[in-house]
Amino acid sequence: MSIETSCEGLCDSPKREATQVVETVASMSRRNMFKAIAAGAAAVGLGGLSATAAKAATKSKVCATSKISVGGGNIFALKSGAYVLITQPKKNVFRAFSPYCTHQQTLLAGINGSNVICSRHGASYNTTTGKATGGPARGPLTVYSTSVSGGYVYVTA
Ligand code: FES
Repeated sequence: MSIETSCEGLCDSPKREATQVVETVASMSRRNMFKAIAAGAAAVGLGGLSATAAKAATKSKVCATSKISVGGGNIFALKSGAYVLITQPKKNVFRAFSPYCTHQQTLLAGINGSNVICSRHGASYNTTTGKATGGPARGPLTVYSTSVSGGYVYVTA
């Protein structure tokens, strides 16, 4: 049985901004990506991420579709404690992944074209499939199920 959680506390409160670590960064410099990561990491307390990632999968209402630009993506903190990266590689096509690099579990930093980038050693992953496209990545990102209903993105993670 899945438990549905509302994103109202995440998407419509000041905390939402703090949980969005990855922004549409087609033109964002590497230096700015690091600033975004540092701000997001501090806001969400990354020290406890590995423990929370092991929780059972639940379906969560994450955010309004309008919160993710076409060609972009954001990382969201779910009420379950899990974190997900949601991308919109094409209009109305949403994908969800684990936001951690498979090389050394670093939080991913940004999107460049059709790739999610890890700024630590340069690995990259396809924003549609999660497959590694470059760098020292050790495998694909974990893919989560997504659905859209009523203008909101739902993720089972
Ligand atoms: S931790 Fe991401 S490339 Fe090494």
